Amino acid sequence: MSKNFYITTPIYYPSGKLHIGHSYTTVAADTSARYKRMQGYDVMFLTGTDEHGQKIEDKAKEKGVTPKEYVDEIVAGIKELWSLLNISYDKFIRTTDDYHVDAVKKIFKKLYESGDIYKGKYEGLYCTPCESFWTESQLVDGKCPDCGREVKPASEEAYFFKLSKYADRLVEYYEAHPEFIQPVSRKNEMINNFIKPGLEDLCVSRTSFTWGVPVDFDPGHIVYVWVDALSNYITAMGYGSEDDSNYQKFWPADIHLVGKEIVRFHTIIWPAMLMALDLPLPKKVYGHGWLLLEGGKMSKSKGNVVAPEVLCERYGVDAIRYYLLREIPFGSDGVFTNEALINRINSDLANDLGNLVARSTAMVNKYFGGSIPKERTATEFDDTIIQLAEGTKQKVEQYLDNLEYSSALTELFKLVSRTNKYIDETAPWTLAKNEADKDKLADVMYVLIEAIRIIAVLLSPFMPATSEAILKQIGACEHCSKWESAAKWGLISGENVTTAAPLFPRIDLEKELAELEAANKPAEALQEKAENIAFLDEISIDEFAKVDLRVAKIKACEPVKKAKKLLKLTLDDGSGKDRIVASGIAQYYTPDQLIGKNIIVVANLKPAVLCGVESCGMILAADTADGVKVIFPEGIPAGAKIR
Ligand code: MSP
Repeated sequence: MSKNFYITTPIYYPSGKLHIGHSYTTVAADTSARYKRMQGYDVMFLTGTDEHGQKIEDKAKEKGVTPKEYVDEIVAGIKELWSLLNISYDKFIRTTDDYHVDAVKKIFKKLYESGDIYKGKYEGLYCTPCESFWTESQLVDGKCPDCGREVKPASEEAYFFKLSKYADRLVEYYEAHPEFIQPVSRKNEMINNFIKPGLEDLCVSRTSFTWGVPVDFDPGHIVYVWVDALSNYITAMGYGSEDDSNYQKFWPADIHLVGKEIVRFHTIIWPAMLMALDLPLPKKVYGHGWLLLEGGKMSKSKGNVVAPEVLCERYGVDAIRYYLLREIPFGSDGVFTNEALINRINSDLANDLGNLVARSTAMVNKYFGGSIPKERTATEFDDTIIQLAEGTKQKVEQYLDNLEYSSALTELFKLVSRTNKYIDETAPWTLAKNEADKDKLADVMYVLIEAIRIIAVLLSPFMPATSEAILKQIGACEHCSKWESAAKWGLISGENVTTAAPLFPRIDLEKELAELEAANKPAEALQEKAENIAFLDEISIDEFAKVDLRVAKIKACEPVKKAKKLLKLTLDDGSGKDRIVASGIAQYYTPDQLIGKNIIVVANLKPAVLCGVESCGMILAADTADGVKVIFPEGIPAGAKIR
């Protein structure tokens, strides 16, 4: 019988670009999912987006688009980020998906029919212009915290979930299942800070906006966004739909991985909802710590976010995955600094791991023409390293089973360091000088490559691309690359190693810090620019008239090989002939987002060859704090002149 494993991340708010803090949860979940797959589990790894609510409705209004149009664009960006970070999710749920909306309606109705949801009155202090209820403690100087105007007591009809009814059952459940809330300190926090002071029934409907799942038996009411969002963990598996086979197979989830600020929703509201629905509870909710910046928590409104795309472009995806998992023990908060990141890359990845692979393969190439030798005589240093290598898998597994990613990597890198030390102990360059030591030299090469193989296999869940590159470089067969093979010494036989570029080039700390700071602060840089905008020198109208600006329609669009930043656009410029333009917008748009759109092209620009593409013109775009935005003039025919 196959073993199942169901792990989830929270579903993310598509209210802007995600930052490195968001990537933290997802990279951790991905590592566990990959690990379990390698162990032979049938894995379901769920992530997605939490798309309803007033905030999204407001943002869309600000932008002059529908909420769905607004979220569609951001969700596409989130999926791109996950693909960049090599996130191997099995399912991506959007709370705007029809099947989810239908299932949430059913869940709400079921809870209403069982009496766990009832209609009552929401009472509070109301600000009429803002259409918002506030509590006394939220007011600022007794006035509305948003607009500063008077508020008055008011009440409106709303639905409530009988959360209070479940307080005792929740505590009993926590006590009977000590593994349910992890780390354990969070359990005490839930009991002492939330349950003991008394749980109140929860208002689970809203009438002040419309962007949400409607309560289908009472028009005008929208399901509270957390009830909608938490349900995703079962609706994504088909609960409440015609085909609930995945629900039957995977529920209850093995792990809900969440940031510490939303543990409360996952360990109080969610289990109470499940109890009310008479469904099993998830086996574990793990509340991890935050990735902080020196000034506090990363947040878009504070403008102190770190963009994962920038880091991945500079150091490679696996270096970032490594840093996130290694630097901070998972349950604790930790401060992200560029300096710590670069130091980690230099010390662990460039010096230890990269060097080990580079030195060892170079020696096999130099002394044995690249083929791993068969005739060997053991050295006195072999036993320790063989024992350590064979035992590392078990230790890594123990830590991974407890979501202690940092300790798992520490354990694995002990083997890396020990293997480097083995090179110094055996001094192969000395053995190479003496023909009589040839078989010993052969043994040293074998031990090195075999240790590297084990390291690479165990590295796979954390740094999948690096693991694959190393295994390829040492010519490891499929069987020697499997998870279980990491505890078995002596599987490599007669393979050939190849040469490859260094896995992690060393970084010049000082120089890099300066550049990184600049790259990570586009918003600030732009603001500075705005404060003292330097316009170009005046030109005459005749000079401007020399620029032939035309509307053109994008007929086709594709990435340009070997040029990460370029997209090749095929345009209809009204002339009847296709026009090709290469544009440096690949980081900001996918081809799908562009095909069919109108743009403005500088039609009489001298052609130039960019990465092998002859580009005839340039399209107009603006630099903004959120990156480059192409100008899309809709409703104007291709070829129209802009003046
Ligand atoms: N939509 C809700 C979750 C609903 S789950 C049914 C939400 N979304 S979120 O986009 O704000 O956050 C998603 C996850 O990212 C959360 O687990 C949150 O803790 C995590 N992080 C956001 N910023 C973070 C850091 N700076 N550091 C670590 N994790 C952080 O909450």
